[in-house]
Amino acid sequence: MDQPPAPSSTKLEFRALTPDCDRKAFSCGKPEIDGWFREKSLKKHEKYLYRVTTAHLAGNSSPAGYYALTVARGDRDHLKNEAKNYGFDGDFFPSVHLHYLAMFSNLQRQGFGSRVLMHAIERVYKISRYAGAYTMTLVSLDEKSTAFYQSLGFETYGPASQHPLMLLPIQSIVDLVEGTRPWPRALAPMLAAADAAKAAS
Ligand SMILES: CC(C)(COP(=O)(O)OP(=O)(O)OC[C@H]1O[C@@H](n2cnc3c(N)ncnc32)[C@H](O)[C@@H]1OP(=O)(O)O)[C@@H](O)C(=O)NCCC(=O)NCCS
Repeated sequence: MDQPPAPSSTKLEFRALTPDCDRKAFSCGKPEIDGWFREKSLKKHEKYLYRVTTAHLAGNSSPAGYYALTVARGDRDHLKNEAKNYGFDGDFFPSVHLHYLAMFSNLQRQGFGSRVLMHAIERVYKISRYAGAYTMTLVSLDEKSTAFYQSLGFETYGPASQHPLMLLPIQSIVDLVEGTRPWPRALAPMLAAADAAKAAS
């Protein structure tokens, strides 16, 4: 079932994945990501291996997008400044890993993915208040997704690859969420719209 086109000011609702969520109809155009959502996400979510959040256009039970988070460890040698003592005890650094993030095909390039990523970043901020993590990490799928994550402040790290590793340090997330650093350009109009909606309600 196709999602109707919607303006980027449309409200998004976020829900924890549930068995009755219609995952079969979801399509972001990437078979690997669609397949994981349709076939694996619920089991992984229920076992707490990953936690999956779905995004919905207001009043629509079919998911417009989703993301999955898990905890992971990264290889310290992959960090850019090899000479720096990051203060880790071993060869690895702790991270909160964004396994996948995807929007329904018809809804891409309208600012929704940025809003879903912003929601994930806010969740990582909350996790970092209670469990230490050096950074939020992900593996980018292709050049388009690398451009997407870069537009929101992520940087590549580690060996050159078609699927580059990317990170956003927790300190940047803290600064963004606590307001000591402006959100990246791509998010600014959405935050302004959210503030205007709050003020009007
Ligand atoms: C990647 C994805 C989540 C982005 O969501 P989206 O809603 O299309 O992204 P946005 O509209 O918020 O884009 C924000 C910015 O990211 C960049 N960007 C997004 N898609 C891009 C693309 N295809 N090519 C280049 N830049 C892109 C642009 O700078 C864009 O700002 P602009 O539209 O003002 O130029 C979505 O395209 C998707 O689901 N793709 C398939 C699944 C996937 O590849 N997931 C990521 C790997 S885990």
